[in-house]
Amino acid sequence: MIRLGVLASGGGTNLQAILDACAAGRIAAQVAVLVSNVPGAGALERARRAGVPTEVVPSKGVADREAYDLRLVEVLRAHRVDLVCLAGYMRIVTPAFLRAFGPLPETRGCPRVVNIHPGLLPSFPGLHAQRQCVEYGARFAGCTVHFVDEGTDTGPVIVQAVVPVEPDDTEEILARRILEQEHRLYPQAIHWFAEGRLSVQGRRVVVAGARTLPPAPIANPAVEIG
Ligand code: GRF
Repeated sequence: MIRLGVLASGGGTNLQAILDACAAGRIAAQVAVLVSNVPGAGALERARRAGVPTEVVPSKGVADREAYDLRLVEVLRAHRVDLVCLAGYMRIVTPAFLRAFGPLPETRGCPRVVNIHPGLLPSFPGLHAQRQCVEYGARFAGCTVHFVDEGTDTGPVIVQAVVPVEPDDTEEILARRILEQEHRLYPQAIHWFAEGRLSVQGRRVVVAGARTLPPAPIANPAVEIG
């Protein structure tokens, strides 16, 4: 059973999906602490309801990002966290933070910080991925769980899910469709890590024993000419 430190700034539906998966015994993990940089974030209430320890480390007005992150590292270490999960955490983590949770021999080259992004990386990194997708007119959207490196949403990809973009989609409608998949993907990725099934080789993440999809090309709109 690995110990998770979840970092969240917002409502925390991804945190909820992780908490539910832990409570149901679907993943070999427990949330050791929920840390938020935003006092009053919805995620804090969700953690409290689940009986998970919470810590607020307010980031507003803090100029020294590295000192802030080192404080977070202290908090996470105090809770003996094995894996840090960014779940709607609206800050870029510093290299000092990433060094503190770098790869260990027992993590087979895997860093110990993961993130979920509401876009099919490398398309639409950064903020408002769903809006970027709708405005671009892309036909597919999705989400990505990836290891975190020093770039913005650039770390090695663990798993992705695809959803179609429908003609009348607004940013909000598309975000809801993507979020449903986020809630499936994040617990799954954590479980693979917990089971020791992930390893990183360069940019590629290997998921030992994972099934891949049979080759079934999909198009949106559907191809009609047979
Ligand atoms: C999700 O879309 C996640 O991918 C992004 O921020 C949103 C957080 O939602 N990084 P929630 O707080 O987990 O509900």
